[in-house]
Amino acid sequence: TNATIMILPGDGVGPEVTAQALNVLRAVEERFGRTFTIRSRLVGLDAIEAEGTAISDDTFEECAQSDAILFGAVGSLPAGERRSGGPRPEQALFRLRKEFGFFANLRPIRPSESMYGASSLKPEHLKGTDMVFVRELSAGLYYGHMESIPGKPSEIRHTGRDTEAVDTLLYTEAEIERVVRAAFEIAAGRRGKVTSVDKANVLSSSVLWRRVVDRVAREHPAVAYEHMLVDTCAMRLVRTPADFDVVVTENLFGDILTDEASMLTGSIGMLPSASLGVRRTQGGMFGLYEPVHGSAPDIAGRNEANPIGAILSAALLLRHSLGLGKEAGAVEEAVEEVVRAGYRTVDVHESGATVVGTQEMGRRVVDALLQR
Ligand code: NAI
Ligand code: MG
Repeated sequence: TNATIMILPGDGVGPEVTAQALNVLRAVEERFGRTFTIRSRLVGLDAIEAEGTAISDDTFEECAQSDAILFGAVGSLPAGERRSGGPRPEQALFRLRKEFGFFANLRPIRPSESMYGASSLKPEHLKGTDMVFVRELSAGLYYGHMESIPGKPSEIRHTGRDTEAVDTLLYTEAEIERVVRAAFEIAAGRRGKVTSVDKANVLSSSVLWRRVVDRVAREHPAVAYEHMLVDTCAMRLVRTPADFDVVVTENLFGDILTDEASMLTGSIGMLPSASLGVRRTQGGMFGLYEPVHGSAPDIAGRNEANPIGAILSAALLLRHSLGLGKEAGAVEEAVEEVVRAGYRTVDVHESGATVVGTQEMGRRVVDALLQR
């Protein structure tokens, strides 16, 4: 049966970059003789205008019936600025995350050798860097469960005293197990190594985390694994990034470490991500795939945005929700080929490179894919 893919382009550069990712998915159909059912719906500002809400119930229901969601970006204003009152575009993403229970956030970090110059690290440190972060997304410190202090902002939680605030870091075995298991499964399809990051010398949630990792690891004897303290990991990411294969960690550590690791590549426009949910699909797990960047209102509508983050997100979708690893690899190699040939969008422009717009970059990836 055909896989169904829901595309939610959203705001700003979202529609520009997802249009290129869609072209690449069409090229995958042609090149590999596959057929996808592809739908597209409004989210964000256009949905608010047309349907009165950032994501309608109908759209949500159609997402629930698809195998995967390819998401652009939502948000109209530079971060930090908030419109007053009324529905906000960001609510689309919040609702999708909450109701689908996405618990694992994947971020592959693989700087192209031809772009080492765009990174802040020396090329000899970057050589061979190819890792996937698996960040727990549904629990931990960001979901502290204590009640807020009456009369205080809801962000400030109860300690019994007015002059204190507390956050709680709670993990259940089940929450740890499912994300760790996803990490081991991903590692089994890669170089077969998991680094589990925690702070077990001071946090009891990390002690539990380690125990669960040791147990899940027994299900995967072919995958090597290690425990690493988060502070050590922060150093090693910039000293010896090529040593990592799959890194799995809890929510807060993952938030910080993924931002650190993203600096190993040149630009936020290059980076894809996946959020995996609990439902199994025919080829893997239901998930939401999106570039790491936002709606970039400063460059929207100018055919300037780098579509590679969105295109590589489509590759992740093929691999993790549709079970099409070969097709995913072909997309990644096509991107690598175009970048190696010196074509760059302005965000990653270096001297000697050929600057192309969003559409031409997409077209070149399609051409490379069809010629493979
Ligand atoms: P942003 O990622 O949209 O932009 C940050 C900077 O990176 C800007 O200078 C932008 O021009 C540049 N940039 C982003 N994507 C690019 C691309 N594909 N190619 C070239 N350059 C690119 O983050 P910002 O400015 O903090 O947020 C803008 C809006 O996006 C806000 O409304 C924010 O809430 C929303 N946002 C949405 C996200 C999502 O939908 N998942 C994630 C992050 C932000
Ligand atoms: Mg962050």
